[in-house]
Amino acid sequence: MAIAHSVLDFQSYSSDALTLDQVQLIESSVAQFGAPLLLLDCDAIRQQYRALQQALPSVTLHFALKPLPHPAVVRTLMAEGACFDLATTGEVELVQQQGVEPERTIHTHPIKRDSDIRDALAYGTRVFVVDNLNELEKFRRYSDDVELLVRLSFRNSEAFADLSKKFGCNAEQAMAIISMAKEWNIHIKGLSFHVGSQTTNPQKYVDAIGACASLMQQVVEAGLPALSTLDIGGGFPVRYNTDVMSIEQFCQPINAALNELPDTVKVLAEPGRFIVAPAMTSVASIMGSAEREGQIWYYLDDGIYGSFSGLIFDDAKYPLHTLKQDGEQYASVLSGPTCDSIDVIAENILLPKLENGDLVIAKMMGAYTSATATDFNFFKRAHTVVLNEDAVSEERLIG
Ligand SMILES: Cc1ncc(COP(=O)(O)O)c(C=O)c1O
Repeated sequence: MAIAHSVLDFQSYSSDALTLDQVQLIESSVAQFGAPLLLLDCDAIRQQYRALQQALPSVTLHFALKPLPHPAVVRTLMAEGACFDLATTGEVELVQQQGVEPERTIHTHPIKRDSDIRDALAYGTRVFVVDNLNELEKFRRYSDDVELLVRLSFRNSEAFADLSKKFGCNAEQAMAIISMAKEWNIHIKGLSFHVGSQTTNPQKYVDAIGACASLMQQVVEAGLPALSTLDIGGGFPVRYNTDVMSIEQFCQPINAALNELPDTVKVLAEPGRFIVAPAMTSVASIMGSAEREGQIWYYLDDGIYGSFSGLIFDDAKYPLHTLKQDGEQYASVLSGPTCDSIDVIAENILLPKLENGDLVIAKMMGAYTSATATDFNFFKRAHTVVLNEDAVSEERLIG
């Protein structure tokens, strides 16, 4: 088959090659559980958490559950001494079931039903986020029990998800919320922001921290109670198919900006993606193939309605691998199993000739993948296999 010019080299989708140990682990897991699978490596969770904690030594990390709300992730991070960022009653229930102490949690959804607030309070969470007066008013009846953060908006069109489009207020609106809270006897503990998921430029944090420092000063000058907390959100980047700064390098200017804050200000963060993205590897198998318009189509048992949902809901491009590497390369398409034509994982990639049952591996699949998967067409979601939960093993799966 002739290879068109526009065809990408498959290797350009792959980061580091799979080691022999990784291949053996993948093959034995499929032999035991079948495909599709998600291999969740708790060692990778530990390493990511420790790396971020080391890079941000003065910051209390609250893992944001949403990218991978899995009990093994919660247990692994709990053992590391992490705190948790919750956004829904389902997330409250998950941490509660795993025995997380409520003092280690914050609830950061800026828009909540009264039942969401009551469920979190019943568990014991005390810190909540607001970004408007309507939301503040919901806390009047709970004023003795809560401490609030006011979320500010800092737009970021370069991020995978510009969360400040949907949430957060400006400095003037924040002042109005803080003043009203004083009138209503509600304790405003501090400020929060999220500069956008997969933010690759640390200056976004630096600018936001500077703006929050000015606002904290303004609060004091207005005779309002001083704020004691700054929550710098999530957004820390990981390497998919393009390089990003090392986390140490990325956090250097952030630490410098945090050092300018008054000593009385305690700093929190809500990392999600950074902690879990490298920790999960997906394994799909080929159900069938066909030649269409000059390319070989491979139909996998996992796709964008399943573990690859991030291709739609997130902007991630996952590094892909096949176990078979040798032989002539053909222009190919990797498609998901459902009847929908948008269910395509990758097009115009060069692959050796693959057979039914051959495996396709995707790395960096821990964040916003299984969390947003569906059961469309009744294709079962990938089974998650938890690795290295109890002991720190010598060899990590995800290299
Ligand atoms: C309030 C809040 N905190 C934390 C996160 C986690 O962000 P990330 O996965 O980019 O670190 C999100 C993501 O949507 C969020 O909305």
